[in-house]
Amino acid sequence: MTIKTVKDVDWQGKRAFTRVDFNVPRTEAGEVADDTKIRAALPTISYLLQEGAAVILATHLGRPKGKVKEDLRLNAVAERLQDLLGVKVIKADEVVGPEVERLAQQLQPGQVMLLENVRFHPGEEKNDRHLAQQYAKLADVFVSDAFGTVHRAHASNSGVAEFLPAVAGFLMQKEIETLTQTLHNAEKPVLAIVGGSKTADKIGVIKAFLQLADTILLGGGMANTFLQAQGCQMGKSLVEADQLENARQIMQTAQELQVELLLPVDVTIAAAVDDAAGAQTVPVDAIPDDKMALDIGPETRRLFAERIKQAATVIWNGPLGVFEVEAFAQGTIAVAQAVAEAQAFSLIGGGDVVAAVEKAGVADKISHLSTGGGATLEFWEGKELPGIVVLEQREET
Ligand code: 3PG
Repeated sequence: MTIKTVKDVDWQGKRAFTRVDFNVPRTEAGEVADDTKIRAALPTISYLLQEGAAVILATHLGRPKGKVKEDLRLNAVAERLQDLLGVKVIKADEVVGPEVERLAQQLQPGQVMLLENVRFHPGEEKNDRHLAQQYAKLADVFVSDAFGTVHRAHASNSGVAEFLPAVAGFLMQKEIETLTQTLHNAEKPVLAIVGGSKTADKIGVIKAFLQLADTILLGGGMANTFLQAQGCQMGKSLVEADQLENARQIMQTAQELQVELLLPVDVTIAAAVDDAAGAQTVPVDAIPDDKMALDIGPETRRLFAERIKQAATVIWNGPLGVFEVEAFAQGTIAVAQAVAEAQAFSLIGGGDVVAAVEKAGVADKISHLSTGGGATLEFWEGKELPGIVVLEQREET
């Protein structure tokens, strides 16, 4: 698939309505806790500025559901962007309206402004046409660089493309090209790792991986449902009873397709998530009634690392234990190290695992860290993504 990019436009004197994904983790004081997503958008913004464009940036932060929430204003994001970019960032206090239009009109080539959190406007998530028109009025071209929101049909990343020529930014282009490559042309053997807490959220992607991978490793809370479906007694562990049938079917399909589906063989257990002191390791068929599985155990880590070593492509989504708690983060960290040491092309999607590889100090050894969470999952599931569809349609016209 080819799509038009920022390189296909003569930017001299043009205004770019640029949708970015600055939905960053925040500290309790409202500061930016991790600026990975802001850094990821810098190549596109810098390029537009260098080429003589005036850049109007739009992003969401959190889920304010169409209402102004003071703690979700973008002031701290604007400050961090300004520091990273080394260019003054003019921050609007509204999403649209006369003041925003005035600021956009005054914006000169080489200048940047950031709209207020687009999800403060009730029309944003409804993909309201009138709001999309108001965004379009601010600029000459729509630049789509928010890969993390391509699975949403919202006014600032989808609706606006009805009124402006649309092109992809560098981040969007790289994400689409890399993910497409792993979906359709991955070097074999392909190994997929799926973790995370909710089985229901991962069934779709595991089904997609059954068609793509030679080996699938399952861990995290969601693996409990598979273990129970296999006959293990899971004690107090999180198990989704309504997903047991799905889990059985997936294991059956894996057998039919000769995909090796590996579940944990041992787990780190405790009485509760906050019982780090009580952590111990047991085989999966020996979990006491009053304990819960919170991480993959050492034998599983060894087994998983062995398989990872043999892969040519590794795709990973979802942590393999309760990663936020040090005592239950060891499985995820060990697997991150194994992926980093492997010769394979490695692709990691989802904020939790990206945070895990950063914590393990191996982020620079991963071939591609995707900025998408839900977006990457839906891409792998083969779903039609509204934020990409608008770029493809533009190419046809
Ligand atoms: C993300 O953080 O995955 C994206 O910014 C999308 O956020 P959302 O799930 O609130 O739409």
